[in-house]
Amino acid sequence: MRKTNFSYIDDSLCFGEKSIRLADFAKASGPVYLYDLALIRSRFLEMQQAFPGAKLYYAMKANSHPDVMRTLKAAGAGADVVSGGEICRALESGFEPGDIVYSGVGKTEKEIREALTLGIFQINVESVPELERIGRLGREMKKKARVALRLNPDVSIQTHPYIATGLAENKFGMELKEVPRLTEILKTSSDSLELVGVSLHLGSQMLEFGGLEEALRLLKPVYRELAAQFPTLKKFDAGGGLGILYHEDDLVKESEALRVYAKVIRDELADLGAELQLEPGRWLVGHAGVLLTQVQYVKQTSHRCFVIVDSGMNHLIRPALYEAHHRLLPLQKNPQAPLKKVDVVGPICESADFFAKERELPELKEGEWLAVADTGAYGFSMANVYNLQDLPTEIPIS
Ligand code: LLP
Repeated sequence: MRKTNFSYIDDSLCFGEKSIRLADFAKASGPVYLYDLALIRSRFLEMQQAFPGAKLYYAMKANSHPDVMRTLKAAGAGADVVSGGEICRALESGFEPGDIVYSGVGKTEKEIREALTLGIFQINVESVPELERIGRLGREMKKKARVALRLNPDVSIQTHPYIATGLAENKFGMELKEVPRLTEILKTSSDSLELVGVSLHLGSQMLEFGGLEEALRLLKPVYRELAAQFPTLKKFDAGGGLGILYHEDDLVKESEALRVYAKVIRDELADLGAELQLEPGRWLVGHAGVLLTQVQYVKQTSHRCFVIVDSGMNHLIRPALYEAHHRLLPLQKNPQAPLKKVDVVGPICESADFFAKERELPELKEGEWLAVADTGAYGFSMANVYNLQDLPTEIPIS
């Protein structure tokens, strides 16, 4: 297995499974996201091997490019969706309704009706009123919804507070004390609701798994109690959230994290007799994307040196929103260039529009290109047209 994702060959930056030369894609047409589909395929297979027998539902919010979707479908993934729009994209990309798990706190009547009409495999329910709504719509439409209860165990994980979801203060999932009420609704609406699963998602970019272990321990007795009352309950959905390394390029180290993560889940759930589902997003696609951007100006002030590029928070919002770190690599290596501390910023009229602050980089000049690493997850999928800037081009590489 390759250890790194980037390498310089003759001082030119190369990327991905096939070591493609990134300079070949740096064109005047503006910023571009490249996706290495081969890397996505091998990441999926690696995760599937770590969880034999489990079904992996790709959390498509991470990257919903049709070719990324098709690659994962062909590899054997299902899709984890959170909107009518994502259902539509999943179907267009070759997923069947039976391959789809539908999560999200704000499902509208229209979206639920559509899910019931299509026969979506499983709806992960996030609140008591949502379960009531699904029950009512199912009855009206004479359909039986297959539901999983997303439970919120009130457990913290080490991640940015904006991407933690398993705490009592978060809007996601349902408190354990609501289980009796949920049980009552499921029983009184047994004509339109079928309980098939219990689900959990503690948050994203998890690299330490103590919180996950604690959460699984808390949910096991609840699962058992429900399974005793609902013989249709067979699935335990452990969500997504496995993190990747953003500060270093070490795929081997990451495989070790995957092994630890898989062991925690498999060991905890070993005696439960449930079929395991997972909803990975970032881990499958994060390293498979790179954003190429061109230096427009180098602006030296008495306080800072700003490297102004043609892409910014409009194309990759993670640094602005979570102060997330992404490595910045010049496409052309210049061993003679002195190192300089710079702010790499975009064209958007916001001070939060930066890719890096006070980052030491080899001195850059107007017209040079940078690769923003590890942008395959939550890059383009969170992009917007603020300031009426164009969206970046996306190029999948097979
Ligand atoms: N399942 C559910 C219910 C989720 O809400 C998410 C992500 C996932 C699975 C996939 O999580 P992953 O394996 O990708 O960590 N925009 C943020 C991440 C937000 C994650 C939202 N939910 C970022 O750029 O870091």
